Amino acid sequence: MPSDRKPEFFKGTQLKVGIIGCGYVGLPLGLRFAEAGHKVTGFDTDPKKVSMLNAGKSYIEHIQQAKIQQYVNSKHFRATTDFAELKDVDAIIICVPTPLDERREPDLSYVENTGESIYPHLQKGQLVVLESTTYPGTTEELLLPILEKSGLKCPIASGPDAENVPGDFFLAFSPEREDPGNKQYGLAQIPKVVGGANPPSGRAAVALYTPIVAKVVPVSSTRAAEMAKLLENIFRCVNIAMVNELKMLSLRMGVDIWEVIDAAATKPFGFMPFYPGPGLGGHCIPVDPFYLSWKAREYDFATRFIELAGEVNTAMPYHVVEAVATALNDRKKAIKGSKILILGVAYKKDVDDLRESPTLKIMQLLQQRGAELDYNDPYFPQLHKMRHYNYENMKSVPLNPQTIGGYDGVVIATDHSSYDYASIVDSAKLVVDTRNATRRVVRHRDKIVLC
Ligand SMILES: NC(=O)c1ccc[n+]([C@@H]2O[C@H](COP(=O)([O-])OP(=O)(O)OC[C@H]3O[C@@H](n4cnc5c(N)ncnc54)[C@H](O)[C@@H]3O)[C@@H](O)[C@H]2O)c1
Repeated sequence: MPSDRKPEFFKGTQLKVGIIGCGYVGLPLGLRFAEAGHKVTGFDTDPKKVSMLNAGKSYIEHIQQAKIQQYVNSKHFRATTDFAELKDVDAIIICVPTPLDERREPDLSYVENTGESIYPHLQKGQLVVLESTTYPGTTEELLLPILEKSGLKCPIASGPDAENVPGDFFLAFSPEREDPGNKQYGLAQIPKVVGGANPPSGRAAVALYTPIVAKVVPVSSTRAAEMAKLLENIFRCVNIAMVNELKMLSLRMGVDIWEVIDAAATKPFGFMPFYPGPGLGGHCIPVDPFYLSWKAREYDFATRFIELAGEVNTAMPYHVVEAVATALNDRKKAIKGSKILILGVAYKKDVDDLRESPTLKIMQLLQQRGAELDYNDPYFPQLHKMRHYNYENMKSVPLNPQTIGGYDGVVIATDHSSYDYASIVDSAKLVVDTRNATRRVVRHRDKIVLC
């Protein structure tokens, strides 16, 4: 590849784009680049995913098979496990997982392994962008030194004097803001924040993303871009914790928190509604804030809002189980031996994603207290063994008035749109509703316990 490649090269319409990690983030991103006319190669370590993609098949509910098929057929998208092919692409975008480890500390092994897979094939003039959510400093402190093992350099620089600082390759961070299941804002509609390790890298990344999103927002460094993503997720985490705490107080005071939120949300400025629930779920909000807490310790700094929000949100599944116990007690029953049906294992409504779902914790706590559990979720016909839970032999039970009526209690953990809540309440003996999903149900409200 030419060593004198300019950032403006990435404005081109027929670039070769490599996406590393074809999951919830990488796959839609790859398809969007394909849609814009680029030649996309998806790199993944999972050979099953790679063969499915090359056969035009989807393994993510909301990503249409037809779309994958279309770009595979037109040769705008293909997938591979062979990282040597990285040498042929113009831009490399990293979308691998960034979870927490057993001690709830950042597990950057996926990013590190990806760096190790890239550097033997890194070419002059290539652009590398990290999209995985992480703490400020990851791109420059962790990824850059691995990439520079190639012998190629990308100097960290900023300010007017560095506008045209020379380097062998370009490096940037641009956080993914995907909201799975959101029909209003897809990838193309969501502005993209971009920060380069130096100004030419920033300009190269801006040029690459500009044709595929509504707006690109350049910031002065990779750190600012990394921190922007964490601010967004910490904002959600803290506000959800606050409203969860206010819900628990409101329940004691006999005030309907959902009515209160709807009323407050009529204020046209200075307020944004957040809704209480059974606890935090999903790959991002319960995980990402702790990346910053961990990094803050290096600076002798305690991120108290994050810790407090974590404490409140972690307590929510326990609160739900106490509410189930109290409701059963009021009906002269104990959790032990009661037959309980859980509705919804996905972490939020209408998605096929159960990562960090609070339902899994609620199920574990109910089982530990002796409940006989079943579940229903249209997105999960059966469950499997996970890192912290083993629901290997559980299958989603069919929902009909007979089955529902056979349980001592039904817990609405996830408010999927496909559920007929009026009919569920009609047939059930008791409904514990963690999401106010039954707000429009008028019959048999005496059976409903909001928690
Ligand atoms: N899911 C979301 O809604 C969302 C939203 C914003 C940001 N993010 C962030 O994006 C990143 C990716 O998340 P995701 O939800 O797409 O994860 P995912 O688990 O759905 O996908 C990751 C993919 O990477 C592959 N992979 C793992 N190690 C690899 C390696 N060394 N080389 C190549 N492929 C590898 C896996 O097989 C998998 O297909 C994370 O940092 C996450 O925090 C996710």
